[in-house]
Amino acid sequence: MKSSSKGEGGQAAQSSTPRIQFHFLTLFPELIQPLFKASIMGKAQERGFATFEFIQIRDFAHDRHRTTDEPPYGGGEGMVLKADVLFEAWKAAGGNRSDPSIRTVLLSPQGQPFQQAKARDWSQSARKIIFVCGHYEGVDERFIDLCVDEEVSIGDYVLTGGELPAAVLADAVTRLIPGVVGNERSITEDSFEGGLLKYPQYTRPRVFEGTEVPAILMGGNHKKIGEWRLAQRKERTRLKRPDLWEGFVRTQVEAPAPASKRRVKSKKNPVQSSG
Ligand SMILES: C[S@@+](CC[C@H](N)C(=O)[O-])C[C@H]1O[C@@H](n2cnc3c(N)ncnc32)[C@H](O)[C@@H]1O
Repeated sequence: MKSSSKGEGGQAAQSSTPRIQFHFLTLFPELIQPLFKASIMGKAQERGFATFEFIQIRDFAHDRHRTTDEPPYGGGEGMVLKADVLFEAWKAAGGNRSDPSIRTVLLSPQGQPFQQAKARDWSQSARKIIFVCGHYEGVDERFIDLCVDEEVSIGDYVLTGGELPAAVLADAVTRLIPGVVGNERSITEDSFEGGLLKYPQYTRPRVFEGTEVPAILMGGNHKKIGEWRLAQRKERTRLKRPDLWEGFVRTQVEAPAPASKRRVKSKKNPVQSSG
């Protein structure tokens, strides 16, 4: 099978210090470790844009049984990850709440929903992100109070552990580090950028099962193609995601008109006040 990595290239990082160090505190590193060895994530690490480090929480257990979780005080189902063991693991990862470039993020269904804007923010401002992957019933609240900067959810459903959500976040943030994805335009025109979804895309063959690629894309008129794509972005956002569309329309109403469309107040041609 032919495989192509066009558009996934990217350059080498400018400095020898990785742009972001990701640390995953987890009981099950084997669940996600391979995800960061292949494709764009693997290349991002090879090129020095990011590092992915997996810290086994069990290594910081104190007793000879290497206990990491205990039943909840007050009774109830399941097991709770111990605050003291997590705290040791967090310190080993360089956890420090007084340094704003180091973020400790607990994956939790109770957290704020993760969005592209957050991924962009972290890709620009974070130096180190420590993901705490819960498991079983969850995490002792005292660890959260003491060490966690924010709780983040990947959706309103409950998974068995925080490993997959942490991998999702790390992927979304890493691909936004400038240089990781070869073609920056493929990022600026992505879904959610500018509040809209991406336009429809086509590649060879020109006719597939009797359906032709839209004629406008074959004409070579890039201005017209750009206008068509923007119209498509708006239409599919309106249809597929009315919630996003509402937000987009609101920003258009609130945004000031471009300077060329505004009447400029000058001594020669003063703008009349409409009261
Ligand atoms: C079975 S869940 C615990 C759920 C917890 N008992 C509750 O009801 O809030 C185990 C772990 O999976 C992770 N997790 C589960 N669902 C998640 C989601 N939607 N987003 C982020 N992390 C999640 C968290 O780290 C959580 O501590």
